[in-house]
Amino acid sequence: MSLPPGFLEELRSRVSVTQVVGRKVTWDLKKSNQNKGDMWAPCPFHQEKTASFHVDDQKGFYYCFGCHAKGDAISFVKETENVNFIEAVEILAREAGLQIPEQDPQAKEKSSYRDELFEIMEVSVNFYRRLLRSTQGVKALDYINSRKLTSAIIDDFEIGFAPNSRTDLFDYLTDKKIPEQHIIDTGMCLRPDDGGPVYDRFRDRIMYPIRDSRGRCIAFGGRAMSKNARAKYLNSPETKLFDKGRSLYNFSTARSALNTRSSLIVAEGYMDVIALSQANFKASVAPLGTAITKDQLALIWRISPNPVIALDGDRAGINAAYRLIDVALPLIETGKSIKFVLMPEGYDPDDLIKERGSDAMQNLIDEAISLGDLLWRRETEGLSFDNPEARAALDKKLDQALLNVRDKQLKYHYQQYFKDLKWGAFIKKSGRKSSGFQNNVTTGNAVKGSFIANSDKKNFISLKETVILAILIKYPSLIEPNREKLTTMGWNSKDHILFLDEIVNMGHLVSEEITENLENKFGDKVLGKLFKQSHVNIIPCLGAKNDPEQAEVILSDEINKLEIQRGLEAELEEVVNSSDEELDETAFWRLGQATQAKFSTKKSGKDDLTNFETAPNGVKLDKEEKSQFDALLEEISQDTFNKSKNHEN
Ligand code: GTP
Ligand code: MN
Repeated sequence: MSLPPGFLEELRSRVSVTQVVGRKVTWDLKKSNQNKGDMWAPCPFHQEKTASFHVDDQKGFYYCFGCHAKGDAISFVKETENVNFIEAVEILAREAGLQIPEQDPQAKEKSSYRDELFEIMEVSVNFYRRLLRSTQGVKALDYINSRKLTSAIIDDFEIGFAPNSRTDLFDYLTDKKIPEQHIIDTGMCLRPDDGGPVYDRFRDRIMYPIRDSRGRCIAFGGRAMSKNARAKYLNSPETKLFDKGRSLYNFSTARSALNTRSSLIVAEGYMDVIALSQANFKASVAPLGTAITKDQLALIWRISPNPVIALDGDRAGINAAYRLIDVALPLIETGKSIKFVLMPEGYDPDDLIKERGSDAMQNLIDEAISLGDLLWRRETEGLSFDNPEARAALDKKLDQALLNVRDKQLKYHYQQYFKDLKWGAFIKKSGRKSSGFQNNVTTGNAVKGSFIANSDKKNFISLKETVILAILIKYPSLIEPNREKLTTMGWNSKDHILFLDEIVNMGHLVSEEITENLENKFGDKVLGKLFKQSHVNIIPCLGAKNDPEQAEVILSDEINKLEIQRGLEAELEEVVNSSDEELDETAFWRLGQATQAKFSTKKSGKDDLTNFETAPNGVKLDKEEKSQFDALLEEISQDTFNKSKNHEN
């Protein structure tokens, strides 16, 4: 479809980007200036607590200082509603009251036939809804009421009733001069193979309309009123409108109900979605009478990176979840996974909400377990690992499953994760030493010793933190882009955290103003002390020289190094707190990994800034840092050497 010249400009000028964005975010009103159309909010495109997403109504665009998402009202609708460019234009044009331009004739003809089918579906929705409220629908409505659905939710989900007759719908549609073939093409009526009269597909059933991602009715699900019906649920067949493996019940409503703080819930049945919505879990969908397919997962991930799967709490539900693991493994990526709610035995979400309330459901959602944990459970449930054969079999199964993970980094982390779980399952639980490591006590002491030897690193970390703060104060433009990292990384010094809390809110000020504010708050000696430390003023960009570029490089380097340092500390701490029996090769291996990570810190590519030396891999480390790590590495390799020697004996 080509748009007439000037159409987009007209559209952009008519829509307010803050209004469009405002439906999906919660504005930070303190930081925003509403009169100027200058608005800030936590970014809808990445997870964050702070407001680094900026919308400028006058200029008509948005920009996120955290993840760098940017665009205008059209791209915003495109991204958040998961539609293509033309669809986004259509949505906005409709809202702005602009006439949508004509399409080319061929496409128009094709889409106009589909439009006719959509129209028949819409007429059917209304037909069934009316019947539910008629005398013919009394029993059906009683039944729905007995399931505790409110009148409002019955309307929201457009629930209807198909009477127990062969041709009521067909007669109604043909009375409207709709051609028989069109009716058959919607799947609502069938022509028998023997050429007998056309009849209605759905009879004596409660009817749930199924809508596509653009809200058009594409199919129905029908629940039998009679217990003797051949199938409890009957769905529309595949038609020109309906591809069941690529559709989800309640998708478009769920999509608009989602926000950055909620996860999509994927339940098994229609009634679960309706009950969940009534309990205010409006972002809920269900597959349509089949197991969840990979196309449905793709659809789900378009709107929610880590949805919660809430299948029924019976054997069939658990098995379906186990099978879903295999569908998902080849598709997961960093930041794109699924988690699982474990429903109590014999409950689906609908039963649970009715009997125990929506809080009980919320609690289960909060406790949802990860894909990795469910996979572990699948492979270990009911088994004992007190013999080498069982352990080897488990290794094989886990390896086999992980073979399918295409994202290399993610696969690596799954492997580590299972290594840890195995460590717990094989050693901790059995309460025995792992066989083959008789030297645990001595190696354990050696490692503990090495940690104590390195504990003066605390000072070192503190110094790095001061460098970061000093850079932020001198170069406030670096505050906003790093806000997320700064506020989520761990800080050692409580004083530094107090500073940081103030500083992150002053990104819009100039350096002198920040200094003044901090002095007013903490006293004027404090800042002087901060800048006087040797480590700080030795850095050129913090001395007399003004060098924002260098400041930026050092800042990101220091943040990275601290993160890695902290990873190493956590590992060491775990080793120190482990009992000697628990120390085995896993512990050593992890220490080795952490130390390696330390040395693979990203190379800054800038000239020597302080007192740097080059590590074996070309990374610049300062002398003090390097000597500490050299010492640690030496100790570790010594320990590993001793261990392997003992192992041979
Ligand atoms: P209620 O029994 O009314 O609570 O329905 P439910 O939504 O809880 O359904 P249930 O847990 O029995 O089944 C889950 C889903 O599987 C349903 O929503 C249907 O999509 C599908 N399903 C169940 N029974 C049948 C059947 O007989 N035929 C087909 N095609 N699908 C079914
Ligand atoms: Mn149910």
